[in-house]
Amino acid sequence: MRPARNVRGSVQLPGDKSISHRYAMLAGIAEGPSRLENYSTGADCASTLGCMRSLGVAWECKAGNLIEVQGRGLSLSAPSNALDCGNSGSTMRMLSGIVAGQTFTSEMVGDESLSRRPMARVITPLCAMGAQIESHDGKPPLRITGAALKAIDYAMPVASAQVKSCLLFAGLFADGETRIEEPLRTRDHGEVALRAFGAKLERKACGQGGAMGHEVRIRGGQRLRGIEARIPGDLSSAAFFLCAAALFPGSQLTVPSLLMNPTRARLLDILMQLGLRISVTQLDEIHGELVGSLQVEGGSLTQITIAGADSAALIDEIPVLAAIAPYTGQGIEVRDAKELRVKESDRIAAVATNLRLMGAQVEEREDGLKIPGGQTLHGAELDSFGDHRIAMAFAVAALRAQGETLIRGAESAAISYPAFFQTLEEVTER
Ligand code: S3P
Repeated sequence: MRPARNVRGSVQLPGDKSISHRYAMLAGIAEGPSRLENYSTGADCASTLGCMRSLGVAWECKAGNLIEVQGRGLSLSAPSNALDCGNSGSTMRMLSGIVAGQTFTSEMVGDESLSRRPMARVITPLCAMGAQIESHDGKPPLRITGAALKAIDYAMPVASAQVKSCLLFAGLFADGETRIEEPLRTRDHGEVALRAFGAKLERKACGQGGAMGHEVRIRGGQRLRGIEARIPGDLSSAAFFLCAAALFPGSQLTVPSLLMNPTRARLLDILMQLGLRISVTQLDEIHGELVGSLQVEGGSLTQITIAGADSAALIDEIPVLAAIAPYTGQGIEVRDAKELRVKESDRIAAVATNLRLMGAQVEEREDGLKIPGGQTLHGAELDSFGDHRIAMAFAVAALRAQGETLIRGAESAAISYPAFFQTLEEVTER
């Protein structure tokens, strides 16, 4: 990556990854066909489609990332091979909720990174619902023997939208009403998607004082029906371009048809607080998901602290925010983000290592980072640690460094965004 002078242009993003996974899974267990336009181009969402095919769901990919799925209703067919989730924690965790309600045994496997990631967070509640699950000490591979599930009332110890969706999906197969409580509000695409496919669920805030959690209730035995939908642009992928624009006071960027779901859009507030000028037009709602177009202009960057509920809300965007921190006026501090250590890589260590290689001063903490602003970085040889978001975050940081940067394993960007480097080139002025 060579340094840039400015960022300008328009970026059309592939469909949101979180929504694509959920739509593909629900379309498979719905009745009738679904048409999913602008399905994510990332390898992770292809892993979900691959697993659905192994479970007997027929689908076809048409031009323009249009996926046509023939739903087969709640009962799937026994896979003849292990379900390969690749690098995708979302696939393994959320699909485990669906296979737990089947009448057969499924084996779920993943790549080296996924095989290190914690699965006890889905194993414990799914076993409480009656599934039998064998694992490698709480890690993949998982061997899930489905059962007639019982509804549970479960307070999730970790704020995780993947776990919440897993249990809501399992709740569809359960006898009675499943209630799930989350300690902090996490992304709600599972709830929104279930409603789009015709399920009824109830949700409300719960908890006392400052700790505002949420609860969701779903009744088992509900049948889903297929939908036709256009998936909004991925906000977490947009984050890389918004942060690139933030690096240049004269930048101008347009992002049409972007996901604006309030449980994801905290990123926009934080970037505005940091000094980016953002306006949203053409707000619309598609199947319960908010979509809008962004106009972005660079300004001078100040400082931000990301902590508490914000750390959960911004969990996928923290790597790129941290990667641009040295170029801000007074720096960025991240706290309460221990979950970053168990993502596709240990993202706290990965960010600290790469920033230091670029000559930055960084304080690494168990649950976050403190990165002073006003620093000058130099190009360096960096590692993606096989993690798509680390590869893309440092492609952005490289735009303001002095000299060239090489990112080893940059091809891992294809996990969520295969065209990332090409699109970044298109909006970069040198
Ligand atoms: C996701 C939730 C988050 C996020 C991941 C996608 C989702 O993970 O990091 O990229 O689609 O629900 P957790 O559920 O582990 O917080």
